[in-house]
Amino acid sequence: MTSLPGRQVRGFLCLRKGRAPSLQGRRRVLAISVHEAGIIYRVSMLILNKTAGVFSKPSKRKLYEYLRSFNFHPGKVFLHKLVLGIETSCDDTAAAVVDETGNVLGEAIHSQTEVHLKTGGIIPPVAQQLHRENIQRIVREALSLSKVSPSELSAIATTIKPGLALSLGVGLSFSLRMVNQFKKPFIPIHHMEAHALTIRLTNKVEFPFLVLLISGGHCLLALVRGVSDFLLLGKSLDIAPGDMLDKVARRLSLIKHPECSTMSGGKAIEHLAKQGNKLYFDFKPPMQRAKNCDFSFSGLQHVIDKTIMQKEIEEGIEKGQILSSAADIAAAVQHTIACHIAKRTHRAILFCKQRNLLSQSNAVLVVSGGVASNLYIRKALEIITDATQCTLLCPPPRLCTDNGIMVAWNGVERLHAGLGILYDTEGIRYEPKCPLGVDISKEVGEAAIRVPRLKMKI
Ligand code: KG4
Ligand code: ZN
Repeated sequence: MTSLPGRQVRGFLCLRKGRAPSLQGRRRVLAISVHEAGIIYRVSMLILNKTAGVFSKPSKRKLYEYLRSFNFHPGKVFLHKLVLGIETSCDDTAAAVVDETGNVLGEAIHSQTEVHLKTGGIIPPVAQQLHRENIQRIVREALSLSKVSPSELSAIATTIKPGLALSLGVGLSFSLRMVNQFKKPFIPIHHMEAHALTIRLTNKVEFPFLVLLISGGHCLLALVRGVSDFLLLGKSLDIAPGDMLDKVARRLSLIKHPECSTMSGGKAIEHLAKQGNKLYFDFKPPMQRAKNCDFSFSGLQHVIDKTIMQKEIEEGIEKGQILSSAADIAAAVQHTIACHIAKRTHRAILFCKQRNLLSQSNAVLVVSGGVASNLYIRKALEIITDATQCTLLCPPPRLCTDNGIMVAWNGVERLHAGLGILYDTEGIRYEPKCPLGVDISKEVGEAAIRVPRLKMKI
């Protein structure tokens, strides 16, 4: 037995016989890697061809066949490291088990959207109570779907920042109990880092790439240079676009709209906008003169609030009833924020190219977060990436919103990179506020890059 760096042990078995028909009579060497917790996480085999005097590697199918011939059930042999991811930073209780190659073995999620829609927004103690009621069931479900027992995990990764304090607390204390009970390494996760790295689970994307994260709680542009190496180019100076869309949807009482009653605010706006005329209202994109990559949405939200009030008077309806022009307002709002987001992103691409931070011909823009599931905003961004010869990539919608998979995958990325893996969780705390990476937004503003005007024909 040879001790390897890290916490695994690898053993070698020389075998002559095997009952598997395709391997009979040949000499083979079986290498078995065992984690210190006793889990076999990798089995590999070499077959010696005596005539040629060379070793060859059989296919996985042949290896499984061979193991089965010894009554060694491959279903229970985990060939890769396994990470459990737990997410409770806002209003979704989510968990997933992902292996180091990116296979999602099991996932479960409980969304609180319906409850918060009824109360007109997230009430932190309510979110906390719902996380408490659901976390055990969700984690158990993710583990049982993946057919993995806690002792077979390589690590537990949990979102500990940023987010709602009361929500983060539930995920962290649950995780720490598991970590202590099963003696597992703990990987604390930054929610925005997890959103940013999700694309590497679904696509082959190398560092560096540019990421735009747009959700209900966050809005930022960052250059991703490595697993935990970010340059922050710009962020929202007030609220996030999803928060604004939620507020506008609430002000328009879209919860009472028969087609939108179960949708989040952003989704309801996107749905209704398809039936509206964006030219009917002329809302100006914010911060047109500021030549940086920061965002702002609350000024625009107040303008929209005023417009809605005016329309209610014109149409002679009470606050709480649905305006006949609701779809036109939704279309105009969506168009205005799409233009605002696209322009700031355009400047970020130009800045990164000017400073050689991104490849001139092969740059990638990744868009993620709940608002990234908006197809109209994606089209606006496509206009920008086409004009700048960049590739636009978005994770599938279910991975754009909060989920456990992104947290588990972030754990896998950190395991590979050997970054932030804790064997002692003493003193670990959640952090409701936590910036992402090194903030160079001032430098971006000082560069004062002019963005060429593009026709936003969406
Ligand atoms: O990433 P996420 O699930 O949670 C965080 O905020 O971290 O994002 C939720 C936000 C909500 O504000 C919701 O209204 C918005 O994403 N959203 C959308 C769409 N679907 C969800 N916004 C615009 N268009 C959509 N289709
Ligand atoms: Zn999120």
